Amino acid sequence: MYKKPIIVFEGVESSGKSHHIKKVANFLKKKNINFILIREPGGNYNAEKIRKLILNKDSNFNKITDLLLYLSSRSEIMTTIKKNFRKKIILIDRFIDSTVAYQHYGMGINLSLINDINNYLLKGLKADFTFVNIVSQKNMKKRLKKRKKLNRYDKFSDIFYKKVQKGFLKISKKKPKKYLIINSNSEIKINEKIVINKIKKLINYG
Ligand code: TMP
Repeated sequence: MYKKPIIVFEGVESSGKSHHIKKVANFLKKKNINFILIREPGGNYNAEKIRKLILNKDSNFNKITDLLLYLSSRSEIMTTIKKNFRKKIILIDRFIDSTVAYQHYGMGINLSLINDINNYLLKGLKADFTFVNIVSQKNMKKRLKKRKKLNRYDKFSDIFYKKVQKGFLKISKKKPKKYLIINSNSEIKINEKIVINKIKKLINYG
């Protein structure tokens, strides 16, 4: 039997996280291993409605409203996570660390407010492992330029993303055994191998 952990992929825009999630999902599909893949904000019917509201280019919420909307989306997706917990591998494209990195380290919102609501929503549930994808400012700019559709959060200043990425690194340093930093400035094929090898270990494959 394979293990069924919750595995999270974090990182700023264009850090390569979505690329690696796709590769992991393809690997699991090929091996006929059951999993669900969700994203935040969003991930199920109700949470996707909230995602549209937050990320819409015409939205102009203040940072506290944004925080509460991200947490509202999380409140909805928790139903899906709890339903599948330890029944299937759960891959999540962003989770609680994104809120701490973007809303606390990026936007300066009080950390205990964020932690209190996250703790209330998660009720002791934890991610088993997190990949933090990092990218240089230069590569991030290049990659964002190539994107056809930019959402509201794809258009903040360089300084903001720098603070957010530093935030992710600070979070990961607190529990180094539960995090792996993937440097997307290095060779992508090598990174793919590193991620898949770690996934194999996490799920007890082979
Ligand atoms: P993405 O899913 O395309 O990466 O876009 C989601 C955006 O939402 C991204 O800019 C990060 C942001 N975000 C927060 O600011 N706080 C959160 O708690 C989450 C989950 C995402």
